[in-house]
Amino acid sequence: MKFTVAIDGPAAAGKGTIARALAAQFGFGHLDTGLLYRATARRVMEGEEALSAALALQSADLRRDDLRSAEVGQVASRVAAMPKVRTALLDFQKNFARRDGGAVLDGRDIGTVICPDAEVKLFVTATDGVRAARRHAELSRKDAALTVAEVLADLRARDRRDAGRDTAPMSASAEALLLDTSELTIDEAIEMAGAAVIAKLPI
Ligand code: CDP
Ligand code: CDP
Repeated sequence: MKFTVAIDGPAAAGKGTIARALAAQFGFGHLDTGLLYRATARRVMEGEEALSAALALQSADLRRDDLRSAEVGQVASRVAAMPKVRTALLDFQKNFARRDGGAVLDGRDIGTVICPDAEVKLFVTATDGVRAARRHAELSRKDAALTVAEVLADLRARDRRDAGRDTAPMSASAEALLLDTSELTIDEAIEMAGAAVIAKLPI
């Protein structure tokens, strides 16, 4: 069975949390596409050229330490604005999306570019303040000293770059269900996303 759930939205809106839960609930594969850009960024920070870095990615790159840091996130959003990098990562994501047994992908351009035919499309949002508070509460050791205001500035800079770039900008696909998680518990958000999947599952 081919069945794709595309989850997009700004930083720290809850995309990954929902994606992991849906994958577990329905037995689908899960790909956090942000990790591809973060792992590419990590290689670029070590001096590698961006396209070579993207082409050289191995699964071990996706398990490296500190991919979640704010610094790697900023470099990731710069690297992600380069068309050659996005092109290099396209086939892997498209193939994952159409794998047998179902797939959930979360990122910025899943419903618009990677899988425009996805059976379910969600655009997950939350207010800036809520997103900054959530990300602040889960900061990696490296970023532990950051204030909520600094986290907010970091997320906003990334969102602006991600929404403003020419190639595959972050945007809600016309068919996407908008899920504002600002006032939702994690369980409520997962429940609503799960209902959207169940409504589209083949019987
Ligand atoms: O993947 P994305 O950057 O969109 O966000 P995430 O890493 O899934 O979520 C950011 C943080 O918000 C995590 O610590 C979640 O536990 C928390 N959270 C949430 O995702 N949804 C809620 N309704 C409440 C909190
Ligand atoms: O977890 P968070 O939402 O903070 O970020 P992420 O999903 O790990 O993505 C890191 C960066 O990768 C984003 O700020 C985007 O610039 C880029 N990205 C992208 O351009 N396209 C995707 N499908 C996923 C991530």
